[in-house]
Amino acid sequence: MLIDGFGRNVSYLRISVTERCNFRCQYCMPEKPFSWVPKENLLSFEELFLFVKVAIDEGITKIRITGGEPLLRTDLDKFIAMINTHKSGLDLALTSNGFLLKEAAQKLKDAGLKRVNISLDSLKADVAAKMAQKDVLHKVQAGIDEALRVGLKVKINMVPIQGINADEVLEVLEYAKARGMSIRFIEYMENVHAKEQLKGLSGDEVQALIAQKYAFKAIGRQGPSPAHLFEMEDGYIFGIIDPHKHDFCEDCNRIRLTAEGMLIPCLYFDEAMSIKDAVHKGDVAGAAEILKEVLRNKPEKNKWSSDDQNEVSSRAFYETGG
Ligand code: GTP
Ligand code: 5AD
Ligand code: SF4
Repeated sequence: MLIDGFGRNVSYLRISVTERCNFRCQYCMPEKPFSWVPKENLLSFEELFLFVKVAIDEGITKIRITGGEPLLRTDLDKFIAMINTHKSGLDLALTSNGFLLKEAAQKLKDAGLKRVNISLDSLKADVAAKMAQKDVLHKVQAGIDEALRVGLKVKINMVPIQGINADEVLEVLEYAKARGMSIRFIEYMENVHAKEQLKGLSGDEVQALIAQKYAFKAIGRQGPSPAHLFEMEDGYIFGIIDPHKHDFCEDCNRIRLTAEGMLIPCLYFDEAMSIKDAVHKGDVAGAAEILKEVLRNKPEKNKWSSDDQNEVSSRAFYETGG
């Protein structure tokens, strides 16, 4: 078991396999020009796998592959198969923008992937294109359909932004519901890389929009997941991730690894340690020691939940995968 300095059990590792992305979501990425980390700086799948084995042996039971857009990394299914072969029964999931999923879904499922969380901010092609700064909707929807067809569990993430897609909360909810997918509405988290002056809907505002049409009741959170869940009268459950109001740090169970091998104790925290040298040398004991050191450094709270609502993170979501 991995216990951090505040007594929390850390069992969830989020691995970003690339910070590159084929979208430029306004709330996440700077507009071009933009230079990516050179590919040779990324950890190889073999290096990542060495760390994954250490992490699993120490107590990690849930692994999520993120980006950037993780499907831009060639042979991602092979990496997933390596993890799944090492230990079955893991909660093995992917977060993707869905654009390349139609082609990849079957291979990912065959490799042992169980779940995929997909961003869907709009059902209108022009609005989706404005948000992602690219024409994306049809390919994303095809990716969602294929993921469902091959039997992956799908969750939709929507970040409602005032003046862009905030008027589509009900439509996107109904789209997810009709297909048996979960949905979470995420409050926009301010960060220096996003387009200036975006204003996200608060979780309360999202609730008010849904309440115009449906009755629902709060049913709390499921374990340490950040989403607060709400059950509609027909039993459908949706989630709201509202870090400005709710501090879910108390039972936070996660750490993050960037594609360059920086191990980050908190989404908001600027201190990280590199596992690069250790995994490059095949130093299992060294990698385990870094993991424990990062856990000792895990902060008690993030800052979106602090009193200063104007806090803006300098950490890039596209580096850490949210
Ligand atoms: P599940 O395993 O399906 O519950 O997914 P998840 O919520 O862990 O993963 P996903 O990649 O879908 O993340 C959704 C979003 O939740 C993230 O991108 C963030 O916006 C938010 N989130 C996740 N973890 C944290 C966290 O530790 N702190 C904050 N503030 N937000 C988080
Ligand atoms: N605030 C809130 N959510 C964000 N995401 C990316 N950047 C932000 C942000 N600044 C979301 C994406 C994706 C999830 C992994 O994180 O929409 O669904
Ligand atoms: Fe890419 Fe995801 Fe960032 Fe959008 S939110 S630009 S899909 S990493």
